[in-house]
Amino acid sequence: MANFFKKLFGGTNASVLGIDIGSAAIKIVQLRKKSGQAVLETYGSLALGPYGNVEIGRSPNLPPEKIIEALIDVLRESHVSTNQAGLAVPYGASLISVAELPEVAEAELMKIIPFEARKYIPVPLSEVMLDWMIIPKAVGAADKTRQLQQPQPQSQAQAGVEPAQAPPSQVQKTIEVLLVAMHNETISRYQSIVTQAGLNVSFLEIEAFSNIRSVLDQGATSEMLIDIGSATTKVYIVEKGIIRTPHLVNHGSQDVTMALSSKLGISVEEAEVLKRGLVKVPEGQQKDVGEVILQALEPLFSEINQVLLSYQKRYNKDIAKTSIVGGGARLANLLTFAESRIRTNVVLGNPFGKTLAPAFLEQVLKETGPEFAGAVGVALRKLQEQG
Ligand SMILES: Nc1ncnc2c1ncn2[C@@H]1O[C@H](COP(=O)(O)OP(=O)(O)OP(=O)(O)O)[C@@H](O)[C@H]1O
Ligand SMILES: [Mg+2]
Repeated sequence: MANFFKKLFGGTNASVLGIDIGSAAIKIVQLRKKSGQAVLETYGSLALGPYGNVEIGRSPNLPPEKIIEALIDVLRESHVSTNQAGLAVPYGASLISVAELPEVAEAELMKIIPFEARKYIPVPLSEVMLDWMIIPKAVGAADKTRQLQQPQPQSQAQAGVEPAQAPPSQVQKTIEVLLVAMHNETISRYQSIVTQAGLNVSFLEIEAFSNIRSVLDQGATSEMLIDIGSATTKVYIVEKGIIRTPHLVNHGSQDVTMALSSKLGISVEEAEVLKRGLVKVPEGQQKDVGEVILQALEPLFSEINQVLLSYQKRYNKDIAKTSIVGGGARLANLLTFAESRIRTNVVLGNPFGKTLAPAFLEQVLKETGPEFAGAVGVALRKLQEQG
């Protein structure tokens, strides 16, 4: 995936930027390589709500000029000192699927993928940029075979008789291929935004890959990564760094704010502050607040649990642990609730753990880290470009 959507626009500076434009907030991280280590130089996040006349924490639907304005603001406020950047684009703006294809030589595979991809990508292939990678056998189901699509004799099919075992020539080994597509229009829209904000962006990357790079360890077997954004949550089951089960849930942290506001009869702004733990819950109301939050999270975690159960059933495998990232991961007591629902070991993603930062920042970076998983992941890839 290293060269996905790669376009070089010129030389690189020592410092690099990772940009993550979410629906509720823009996150940026500036890194520099020093003695082989990724050193954190600056980082910042800016809520987009106020640029679309909605409250902080919510996802406004912004026209490009507003996103550009916000991007320029966050770059200035974070005192970035370079414009050499990479960009994460939302999972929802991409199409990722796992295709099961016949196991043939790579040259042959390159020929059949554009045809096979049509079954998985619901738009004309001329309108997208398509990339793909073979899921190694050690990761995919071992030695899978599939019956070639041959018409069965009428009599057998009508009588409902199980067809006899196909002769070897009719049994085709299959492999799994991760297909990744992004609409050309999406690419141009994002490229235009970053260029107008004065950035020199050498690649666009779907946020899933950025998050995986900054949070998961390559060696690990099966892990789940949950990215709780404002409007949506992304769930990926990852094996040895490769996505097996991508899934988008239409619930996010904004649901919690809206539930607190309507159930407690407070403004959305007050509800957001309460959710973030920035004010003390009034005496005697702790139970109510806790219950509203748990109820609001219930549909989200029930869907995540379904993703996990169907993975376990399909591949007959379990996962070793779950990492949660995204601004929504910062909710107090989230890990305990998540563990009770998905029954695996759940931790907060710590993307800054792959960077070097002053010791006094250690605690704050652990707390804010989950929100910056995408931006850190992009910046780490940008550093890799320097060799
Ligand atoms: N300290 C906190 N405690 C609880 N929730 C928080 C905290 N900080 C931010 N959030 C919530 O995180 C959400 C924003 O998360 P994030 O920045 O990951 O979203 P996004 O990437 O912009 O959204 P999406 O993924 O939907 O496009 C908001 O709903 C916000 O209320
Ligand atoms: Mg996000």
